[in-house]
Amino acid sequence: MSIVCIANQKGGVGKTTTAVNLAAGLARRGQRVLLLDLDIQGSATAMLGAARDAAAATVAECLVQERPILDVVQPTSTDGLKLAPAGERLAVVDIALASAMAREQVLKRCLASALPHFDHVIVDTAPYLGLLTMNALVAADHVLVPVSCEYLPILGLKLFGETLARIRATLGAPCEVLGYLLTMYDQREKITVEIEEILRRNFGAAVFPHPIRINTRHKAAPSHRKTIFEYEGEGGRGRRDYEQLTDDVLARMGVRAEQSFARLLDDAEPRAAAPARRRKTARAAR
Ligand SMILES: Nc1ncnc2c1ncn2[C@@H]1O[C@H](COP(=O)(O)OP(=O)(O)OP(=O)(O)O)[C@@H](O)[C@H]1O
Ligand SMILES: [Mg+2]
Repeated sequence: MSIVCIANQKGGVGKTTTAVNLAAGLARRGQRVLLLDLDIQGSATAMLGAARDAAAATVAECLVQERPILDVVQPTSTDGLKLAPAGERLAVVDIALASAMAREQVLKRCLASALPHFDHVIVDTAPYLGLLTMNALVAADHVLVPVSCEYLPILGLKLFGETLARIRATLGAPCEVLGYLLTMYDQREKITVEIEEILRRNFGAAVFPHPIRINTRHKAAPSHRKTIFEYEGEGGRGRRDYEQLTDDVLARMGVRAEQSFARLLDDAEPRAAAPARRRKTARAAR
C-alpha cells in the first residue's frame, strides 16, 4: 500500500494530467487505486467524469467534519480506479483546518480506514503550498514532482525541496521524492534540452528516465472526460508515455520497499548485536 502525492506549487505543470493517467495506468495493471482530488479547481474530478451532485459530500466535508474518505468514494469508468471527488467547499477547508487539532494530520486520519481497500492512493494537489497540500504531503509515502519543460517551474523547486525537508524534520513524515518528471517534453525545443540538463545535473537519478512528451491529445482528453487510455488509440504517444511512467513508478516503489526492508534489518542488527558487544566490553574490563 502506498500513498503518492503529485505536487509542485507551480501551476499548469501537468500535475492533474499525471495524477489521473498514472492512477488509470496502475488500475489497468490490476491494482486497486484511489485518486483523491485535493485541488479546489476539481480538475481531476472533472476529468474522471464524476457525476456532479452538488448536495453530495466530497473530500471537503470529510476534512471539515473529520469523516472517513471512504464515505465519499465513487467508481469511475476505469475498472479498479475509484475517485474521492473535490467539492467547492475545499476553498474554505484551509481556514477550517487552521483550527483543527494537529492540523497537518487531518487527511492522514480521514484516510486511515480507506487504506486496506487500496493498493495505491494518488493525491492530486493545488498549485500552492497551503494547509491542504501540507496535509497531502504529511499523509504521503512518496512525492512525484512534475516539472514542465519551461524556465519558471524549475525556479520554485528549491522552495519545494525546503518545504519537504521541513515537513520531514518537524512532522516526522516520510514523503520521499519518488522522482521529478519532465512533462510537455519537446526535444526540438532548445529550452527543453536546457531544462532537462539542469534537472538531471541537480537531481541526478531522481529524475525519471522517460519524460512525458508534449501531445495535444493531453489537452483534448479532459474535455471528453476521459483518461488518455480511453481517449487515445492503442499505441498512441500519450498513452505509451503514461504506460512507461506506470512501469517506472512501480519499479521505483519496489526498490524503495526493498530499501526500507533493508533499513529495518539494519536497525534491528545493532539491537541484536548489542548483548554480544556488551559481553565483549565486560570481558575487556576484567
Ligand atoms: N504532455 C502534455 N502535452 C500537452 N499538453 C499537456 C500535457 N500535459 C498536460 N497538458 C495540458 O496542460 C495544461 C495543464 O496541465 P494540468 O492541468 O495537468 O497541470 P496542473 O499542474 O494540474 O495545473 P494546476 O496547477 O492548475 O492544477 C492542461 O490544459 C493539460 O491538458
Ligand atoms: Mg491540476
